[in-house]
Amino acid sequence: MATSTAPKSLLRPMTFPRKLLLGPGPSNMSPRVAAACALPLLGHMHPEFVQIMDEVKEGIQYIFQTNNSLTLAISGTGHAAMEAACCNLLEPGDVILVAWNGTWGERFSDMAARNGADVRIVKKPAGSVFSPQEIEKAVTEHGPRVVYLTHGESSGGTLQPLDGMGVVCRRHGCLLVVDAVASIGGAPLYMDKWGIDVLYTGAQKVLSCPPGASPISFSAAAESKMAARRKKPVSFYLDMGWLANYWGCDGQPRRYHHTAPISNLYALREGLAILAEEGLEDCWRRHRRCAELLHAGLEDMGLTLFVDRPEHRLPTVTPVRVPTGIDWKEVSQYVMKHYKVELSGGLGETANEVWRIGLMGHNATPDNVRLLLRALKEGIDHCRSKVHSSL
Ligand SMILES: *Cc1c(COP(=O)(O)O)cnc(C)c1O
Ligand SMILES: *[C@@H]1O[C@H](CO)[C@@H](O)[C@H](O)[C@H]1NC(C)=O
Ligand SMILES: *[C@@H]1O[C@H](CO)[C@@H](O)[C@H](O)[C@H]1NC(C)=O
Repeated sequence: MATSTAPKSLLRPMTFPRKLLLGPGPSNMSPRVAAACALPLLGHMHPEFVQIMDEVKEGIQYIFQTNNSLTLAISGTGHAAMEAACCNLLEPGDVILVAWNGTWGERFSDMAARNGADVRIVKKPAGSVFSPQEIEKAVTEHGPRVVYLTHGESSGGTLQPLDGMGVVCRRHGCLLVVDAVASIGGAPLYMDKWGIDVLYTGAQKVLSCPPGASPISFSAAAESKMAARRKKPVSFYLDMGWLANYWGCDGQPRRYHHTAPISNLYALREGLAILAEEGLEDCWRRHRRCAELLHAGLEDMGLTLFVDRPEHRLPTVTPVRVPTGIDWKEVSQYVMKHYKVELSGGLGETANEVWRIGLMGHNATPDNVRLLLRALKEGIDHCRSKVHSSL
């Protein structure tokens, strides 16, 4: 006899308010992606499923602009891809230089240290970016084997220019790792042309998929470093040797490693297909146009964007300063209550200082920009009038 009774909460149906997710992720699934999630399961080694995996791989090569054969989707969210990059690439004692300002550099440093790496940090205030000269200076000083940069820093809202960084890294014999979870599809990025050695992203941002399958790719140079490891990576689940085999990247017959998140890969296949149909360049342009519309609208309301220089603003996630005397949370709650729109607060250094507005993938439309601006203005006016009436 069972000693606990069935929880009453489970005997009621789930409730699903419809919300427009305009925070830094997840973004809403597009209807086609939602339909893909509901398709019947296939076995994780069935030929039809293996074909879907191959198509996902091609789609990732396209959005990353790479021909790397070691290209696949990690089973897990963006953090799992970060862990995969760390645990496969780094060995105890390897020096890694992390260019950090914002939460993602901070987290990558933490993961690298857990893998025994000797972490060196080059810092700038949130909201600013690094120049190739600054990176070169730090590389000369620290002599790392690996350099980490965040392309779209979704905490500070910056778009880190990457052109020239690969050249610096090659000149100094180190590998370049880039986090593009918040930016892929929303801003130009050319893995091969820019000399990026490890690149990863997530599914629930511009790809408008559910979180759970995260694209990653390794250059031939990154593969060589991994092949020369003295010890296996500590994670079995994220071991790129096993994953390369399961994803058909090593030319050997595929072996069972773990059960792929099958429905997530259907969704990713569909998200990649939608992006391929639109075309990468048109998708970049759509995100740019929506961001510009949003930025102009926010400035018209008298608000200040967190990132000063327009060319350094991330098109997908915009932090905007909370005016003095206004409680960011109250405005967010107002917008959620009256419009069912998610408007996030800051993260890390930007906590309590900004709202973060995400316009990603399916959600990046001028209509959503106008709705958000109206809702935000009303929310701020509502808080202001409360402040006045209490004086
Ligand atoms: C969202 C995000 C991540 C983490 O992704 P999860 O899917 O939440 O694990 C990593 N890096 C950046 C830049 C992000 O915006
Ligand atoms: C990949 O290879 C094809 C065929 O050789 C080539 O046309 C294409 O430019 C390459 N892509 C990249 C990103 O280098
Ligand atoms: C960014 O850099 C500044 C200046 O070095 C530092 O004070 C701050 O803590 C850093 N922020 C984050 C989130 O790392």
